[in-house]
Amino acid sequence: MWGQQPVQDTEIIGTDAAPLSLKTLDELSQEASTCRLCSLANTRKTVVFGVGNPDADLVFIGEAPGRDEDIKGEPFVGRAGQLLDRMLRAIELDREEIYIMNTIKCRPPNNRDPKPDEVQSCNLWFEQQLNILQPKMICLLGRVAAQTVLETDATLGSLRGRWHDYHGIPVRVTYHPAYLLRSPQQKQKSWQDLMVLSHRLRSG
Ligand code: URA
Repeated sequence: MWGQQPVQDTEIIGTDAAPLSLKTLDELSQEASTCRLCSLANTRKTVVFGVGNPDADLVFIGEAPGRDEDIKGEPFVGRAGQLLDRMLRAIELDREEIYIMNTIKCRPPNNRDPKPDEVQSCNLWFEQQLNILQPKMICLLGRVAAQTVLETDATLGSLRGRWHDYHGIPVRVTYHPAYLLRSPQQKQKSWQDLMVLSHRLRSG
């Protein structure tokens, strides 16, 4: 992602090859917790690494930590996170079954969009994290996560409703829960997106 040279031991994402990296998620999280690769290190309170089941088949990826997440050190714990929990329950999933992370691990000041250099620096953690997780599917939450991970300028509307690929992992795109809080009329479409994921998850 993001036009950076892949880190050597992360090149096997989505292949059948045995992972070369022996690092665990906990070890990677520990390393990331002191990261100073970009200037967000000067303003963040916490490095928000990710949460959930390390063996999850399905990984949800949001944009970046917000204020609540920065304080708590966990992704999606504010109002948007509560809606995400309800969306998960609608497809009979909960946080213990899935894994949740963001495209970057530190809160941008005033919740602005992540800058390209921040995304590129954080890719060091992002790629290794997904390489350890080896999910069967990824769901990207919102335009920023979708455009960042899929390296495209396409609109969210045009990216929804079809499968994409991230290093061999099937990817689906849906609305960000924060957007759904502002535009509840779109919840039905988001539910349809999640149903597609749920169906594929349960059919093997
Ligand atoms: N929005 C995101 O994209 N990620 C979070 O963790 C919280 C809010």
